[in-house]
Amino acid sequence: MIDWEILYKIPLGLYILSANSGKKDIGSIIDAVMMVANQPCALAISCGNQSNTKQAIDKTLTFNLSVLPKNVSPDIIANFGFFASNEREKWKYTSHHKYHGLPVFDEALAFINAKVIHKYELCSNTVFIAEIVDAEINKQGESLLYQDYRGELKNNVIKAYQRLKGE
Ligand SMILES: Cc1cc2nc3c(=O)[nH]c(=O)nc-3n(C[C@H](O)[C@H](O)[C@H](O)COP(=O)(O)O)c2cc1C
Repeated sequence: MIDWEILYKIPLGLYILSANSGKKDIGSIIDAVMMVANQPCALAISCGNQSNTKQAIDKTLTFNLSVLPKNVSPDIIANFGFFASNEREKWKYTSHHKYHGLPVFDEALAFINAKVIHKYELCSNTVFIAEIVDAEINKQGESLLYQDYRGELKNNVIKAYQRLKGE
C-alpha cells in the first residue's frame, strides 16, 4: 500500500513555469522539476495535461522557470497556481520582464530558459525533458520548498485566491 506521505519527504521547490500560447504569455506554478543530466544539461518537468501552460509548451517546445524565494507573496502562488490562464491575464498582475522572449518574475532567485528535447505522456501528466539554453541568478536568498507551502503559506494562498477572485 502506498503511504502518500512519502511524497512529501522528497524535497521539491516551487517555480513559475512560463510559456506563450500563441495569443499571449501564460504561466502556472509547478513543483515537479528536477535536474536529470549534465550532458546535455537537462531538467525534467511534469505538467498536468489540462494545464494551459502544458498545451502551450506542446506547441512551442520552449519555456522559462522562475525560482521562487521563501518570502514570496501568497498572491503570486494564488495567481499562477489557482487560476487557469484562459480565464485570467496572470502576468498583468505580476512584476516581470522578458528573458529569451518569455516572462520571468522580477523577484525570482533565478531564471532558466529551456527547450524541450523529449516528451513522455502519462494519463494525468506530461513529462518534458528539456535542455537548459540559458540560466542566471537574479537574487541571493533561500528557495521556497513545497514543504514550506504545505504549512501556514497554503492557508494564506487560499485567502489570497478568494480575495483575487472577488476583485
Ligand atoms: C503548490 C502547487 C504546486 C503545483 N504543482 C504543479 C505541477 O508540478 N505541475 C502542474 O502542471 N501543475 C501544478 N500545479 C497546478 C497548476 O499551477 C494549476 O493547475 C494552474 O492553474 C494551471 O494554470 P494554466 O492552466 O494556466 O497552465 C501546482 C499548483 C500549486 C498551488
